[in-house]
Amino acid sequence: MCGIVGYIGEKDCLPILINGLKRLEYRGYDSAGIGYFRSNKINVIKSVGKVVELEKKVEAASVHSNMGIAHTRWATHGEPSELNAHPHSNQSNSITLIHNGIVENYIELKQMLVSKGYIFTSETDTEVLVHLLDLFAKNNYSFFEAVRHALIRVEGAYGIAVISTSDPDKIIVAKKGSPLVIGIGKNENFIASDVTALVNYTERVVYLEDHEIAEVTKDGFVTKTISNEIIEKDIHEIAINIDEISKGGYDHFMMKEIMEQPFSIENSIRGRLLQKEGTAKLGGLENVIDLIVNAPRIILCACGTSWHSALVGEYLFEQLAGVPAEVEYASEFRYRSPIINKGDVIFFISQSGETADTLAALKEAKMKGALVLGICNVVGSSIARASHSGVYVHAGPEIGVASTKAFTSQLVTLTLIALLTARKKNMNITVGQKIVSEMFSLPDKIKRVLELNDTIKEIAKDFADTNNFLYLGRGYNFPVAMEGALKLKEISYIHAEGYPAAEMKHGPIALIDNNMPVVFIAPKDSTYDKILSNIEEVKARKGRIIAVTTEDDTKLQNIVDYVIKVPKISEFLLPILTVIPLQLLAYHIAVLKGLNVDQPRNLAKSVTVE
Ligand code: G6P
Repeated sequence: MCGIVGYIGEKDCLPILINGLKRLEYRGYDSAGIGYFRSNKINVIKSVGKVVELEKKVEAASVHSNMGIAHTRWATHGEPSELNAHPHSNQSNSITLIHNGIVENYIELKQMLVSKGYIFTSETDTEVLVHLLDLFAKNNYSFFEAVRHALIRVEGAYGIAVISTSDPDKIIVAKKGSPLVIGIGKNENFIASDVTALVNYTERVVYLEDHEIAEVTKDGFVTKTISNEIIEKDIHEIAINIDEISKGGYDHFMMKEIMEQPFSIENSIRGRLLQKEGTAKLGGLENVIDLIVNAPRIILCACGTSWHSALVGEYLFEQLAGVPAEVEYASEFRYRSPIINKGDVIFFISQSGETADTLAALKEAKMKGALVLGICNVVGSSIARASHSGVYVHAGPEIGVASTKAFTSQLVTLTLIALLTARKKNMNITVGQKIVSEMFSLPDKIKRVLELNDTIKEIAKDFADTNNFLYLGRGYNFPVAMEGALKLKEISYIHAEGYPAAEMKHGPIALIDNNMPVVFIAPKDSTYDKILSNIEEVKARKGRIIAVTTEDDTKLQNIVDYVIKVPKISEFLLPILTVIPLQLLAYHIAVLKGLNVDQPRNLAKSVTVE
């Protein structure tokens, strides 16, 4: 949600900023802008649309500068327009800033500023920040102190970067709720909302924490808390390579990421499965595993696709490990005064590790005394750092807005945790060893599912002009039905519902006619016979049926319109295989509709506002 990048050093900053924005474009892509120094003045270039539109304007201006800040926007307040695009400047153009987050008390701040004669030119909440800074600067505060004092007045979330003609040798950055990193170079430094923007330039980063503010020059940086105490920060080495964040010959990141799943799953399990002992080894949980095993209740809390992983996690914890488990939407959890009992363990699942709702829920749970554990993909992300402990899913960078490989890696990680818990409780070693062998077989089985790509592409042709879809599954595959529907909605803008198959007769069945495609996830598992009846109920009402089943099924091809068969595996691992055809189906339908698969309208990869 909104990308921020900045540079101060000896090189020309404009190509660095544009390149950084392109890498961050998955965070927001409705407009973009750059503010840079030239001849002791701050200049601003903005454009509506993708970063490439801004790039054209910057190239046409043919300018160079050693210092600047840039922003790609995901609109929260005010439509996408040049006026609303960042950076925003004060009236005299001496202060310019970019902001990721939401200023929640912007109305009262705006009223106060308007009463003092400030004129607003945009509809954004961000503009109050720049005028507030101006107010403090006019009252003889230094640049740094003006930013610090202004932020003390701000409620809400921010990751900001500010430049000022009063101090043309520094960028001030600050963070609360929205991520911000400083990239350390030689005779140059960088700032960014996430490390992806810095990959070409440095591997050394400093993560700002909430309520921290830093002054960044070309030679170094000083960090303080917002209440003005100097703090020493650790420098972290980051390990993202450039191949991981390029499309690698595919038309879209989403397809590349779907196809990467045999390898991302291999990475998720590498070094974590013990065949002989029939269990899992997870360094991040070693100190807390007894608390998990003895927990009266496990809560899994997340948003979006990660929430669907949590639903599978609920089944895994209850069925494999016998621990009572519940799933919560992070956005609801925080606002209904959740009751946390002694011993409760709460897992927060997040690909980005930055989702504001999930982070806020985590802080609430931590404050109420729960053990909070993170299951994140992005190493060093806010949720990973705020957790007591946790497990990385190691899917590698996911750029496509619709989550694919991170979802399957989350499922694998949850299975590892459930297996470890179960073995510490009362699962016997033989059962554990069988699970370990099956988990080792996942990458090869996924490769076999991916061989169905052409078949699924053909099926997609029959559905590209459909307006509605129903996805139905039972047991472990109910969350998969929801995830399949979400994928289709996100990237093809087709209305789709995911439902427990048996619930269909309590409502959705009324929708079924020959125009309603229904995707059944119907593997030969413990619910197969029941779901066959549901399939017959749809067929009787002339619904068009696509069934995802397992290779040992012989019945469905005689009943349904299209059959997609995945390899056989134990029921609790099936979602990792059955979701892949649904990812491919959504992808091909969206491509056939000519839509931007990697950057669907209105969505952002990482939602850092509540
Ligand atoms: C956004 C993305 C979804 C994602 C959700 C949760 O809405 O568009 O794809 O599932 O956030 O993100 P997280 O990073 O916390 O898993």
